[in-house]
Amino acid sequence: MLVSEVSIQSPEQLPKLADLRLTGEFDPQIKSSHPKHRYENSLKGEKYIVKAGPSQSVRADFIGNKIFSALGLSTVPSAIDINPESGEPVLIMDDVSEKYKPLSLAAGSSFRNQGLKLGDFLKDPAQRELFKDSILATILIGDYDRVPWNLMAAKDGSNFVHLDFGASMGVRARGGYNGYSLHIDEEEIRMALRDPYDREPNANELHGEVIEVTQNGIEIKDKERLARLSNRMQTVITDSVIDSIVAEAAFPDNATSEGKSENRMILNRALSQLEAGLAREIPGSLSHLKTERAITTYKCIRDEYNGDSAAYFSNALKTRRDELIKMFGQPDISEQTTA
Ligand SMILES: Nc1ncnc2c1ncn2[C@@H]1O[C@H](COP(=O)(O)OP(=O)(O)O)[C@@H](O)[C@H]1O
Ligand SMILES: [Mg+2]
Repeated sequence: MLVSEVSIQSPEQLPKLADLRLTGEFDPQIKSSHPKHRYENSLKGEKYIVKAGPSQSVRADFIGNKIFSALGLSTVPSAIDINPESGEPVLIMDDVSEKYKPLSLAAGSSFRNQGLKLGDFLKDPAQRELFKDSILATILIGDYDRVPWNLMAAKDGSNFVHLDFGASMGVRARGGYNGYSLHIDEEEIRMALRDPYDREPNANELHGEVIEVTQNGIEIKDKERLARLSNRMQTVITDSVIDSIVAEAAFPDNATSEGKSENRMILNRALSQLEAGLAREIPGSLSHLKTERAITTYKCIRDEYNGDSAAYFSNALKTRRDELIKMFGQPDISEQTTA
């Protein structure tokens, strides 16, 4: 299986927030939209980064990370914990700054103008192939932000890790809401792979070598890879894997009356924000489309899933997985047959 070797801790060994000591702010020169702090485990001296932000972003980041890593794609080991002060979830991640270099931009610079391309820094063909293998996972979680600054490359150039799945699972990159449909259709694939700034047809040119998003629809370019990846997805992303990832994501428990009312409150607040946003947005714009799709998603959770977000996301992951397997799977292609 194509998995780059990452010699960092396995997620089971990650500590709880209570075991850690705050050591400082995250580097201000690294472009960041969610609050991050550096922590240390006093006993062992290990370093961590704790990423906060809206609870929906933290959960999306966690679920995306787990799905990617279950599929053998390298991520930074991450765990979720509740910050006792805020009562909100945070992501605890290994601090990989010593081995990996940021591919992010200087604070204040515009994403739109920096022209950073994946192919420019993933020069090793094997690493480029590995990146392309993230395409199906990207579509499964509905991530539209698999861009260079959400990867870190090993300082010795031998591998890279994926990070920041905060623009997936019904959430936008800066914490707003997005659609996360129960079904995959062509529009879903376009949304996941399209450049968020409409600068290029695809968010990055390497995914564009597998599926090209064009004005008229999507064009499949690497059928064999998609078949191999969907076979892998079928083997690895079982119902119980999805259930346990979603259970770990710390959604309010809809079975208790407190959890249920918290879920309702969050959904009603999200929906009123979205409806106000829709009135301000230009029909036909990408943002308007995302808002419309978000309204459909969150109304469905509130009205058809009894406000149970965890049940919705777990069901949507299963349905989408099955549909991707049906769309791209081929029984005769095994994982060993390609690159
Ligand atoms: N675990 C980590 N270890 C070291 N650096 C990190 C880690 N996580 C993020 N970074 C650096 O911080 C930048 C922003 O992190 P990211 O998770 O993308 O947050 P945001 O949601 O704010 O964009 C990344 O581009 C990367 O350079
Ligand atoms: Mg980011």
